[in-house]
Amino acid sequence: MKRILLPHLICPTCLPKEYPLRLTVHREMEDDIVAGILSCGKCNRRFPIREGIAHLLPNPDSGPSGGQWRYEEGGMTDRYLWSHYGDLLGDPDSGTAGAQWAASLADHISAAFEAGCSVGRITFEMAARSDLAVGCDLSGNFIKTARRLARDRHLEFTLPLEGNLLENFSLSLPESWRTDNVEFIVADALRIPFARDTFCQVASINVLDRVSYPLAHLFEMNRVARSRHASFLFADPFSWSAGPATEELWLGGTMTGPYPGRGAKNVRSLLEGQGNILVPPWRIERTETIAWRMRTHCNHYEVIKSDSLSAVR
Ligand SMILES: C[S@@+](CC[C@H](N)C(=O)[O-])C[C@H]1O[C@@H](n2cnc3c(N)ncnc32)[C@H](O)[C@@H]1O
Repeated sequence: MKRILLPHLICPTCLPKEYPLRLTVHREMEDDIVAGILSCGKCNRRFPIREGIAHLLPNPDSGPSGGQWRYEEGGMTDRYLWSHYGDLLGDPDSGTAGAQWAASLADHISAAFEAGCSVGRITFEMAARSDLAVGCDLSGNFIKTARRLARDRHLEFTLPLEGNLLENFSLSLPESWRTDNVEFIVADALRIPFARDTFCQVASINVLDRVSYPLAHLFEMNRVARSRHASFLFADPFSWSAGPATEELWLGGTMTGPYPGRGAKNVRSLLEGQGNILVPPWRIERTETIAWRMRTHCNHYEVIKSDSLSAVR
């Protein structure tokens, strides 16, 4: 973990109270803390840094639950690498979703944050436009891969070609991309371990329908975003299902409850100040539909359409 993160970190267990974390370094290489402990002076919780990865889960001992197990399954990391970076590999079947979302990011800003970053495409895109970019995900495998990509700038991976045949991919980050100002941590998008008002740019892409409490996720993104001069890039396919969150917690896709109807419309209204939950309110600057792809094998792809918006305040 890079030291530049430390002044912004808070204890995720003590939220909504915000208490800073104390760092004990066991091993450091250049600016990277390879092993150590972040601890909260208030609740005494200890959050490990192992192999350079800070694990900042509110309960550091809890494992994946709900539908989260599937992200840890074999092959999933490679599928997400293809989904995020297929255009950089020159694969004409991969689409251009990463570049399309990147086109909506704010430029020349101090700090940016992405929740549910998976293997990191949008966080790297943020790093190219800011002084510091942080991506978080619950998946240790995804964060390890994103960190390895930041360190080595190169990764080899494989995907099924057909049956048991495999296709090899060789991914290199573009030379113009910065990696000195990017960091990836294991953290929960429902209890984000950063102080309020930290980030000028926040992004949540295809995460809302995967979390156990969607409104809490928006609330947290709103908390860590600056109250002025901030941008929010949001996208979701609204594939509601009972696995991650029970129906009464969905922000759409139902006829009843506090958020009936379509998720995209409800998220827009919440951002614009409905119910005074996300304050100060946001102004929606742009909406569009962006399609992204997951590859099963060379002749089989899943296309997912996400309702996307950029908001500012
Ligand atoms: C559908 S994937 C989207 C990944 C990436 N944003 C993209 O668009 O390719 C959902 C991601 O959210 C992560 N995730 C789910 N619940 C989370 C939570 N509570 N906190 C942080 N990440 C979470 C998963 O591990 C996974 O990487």
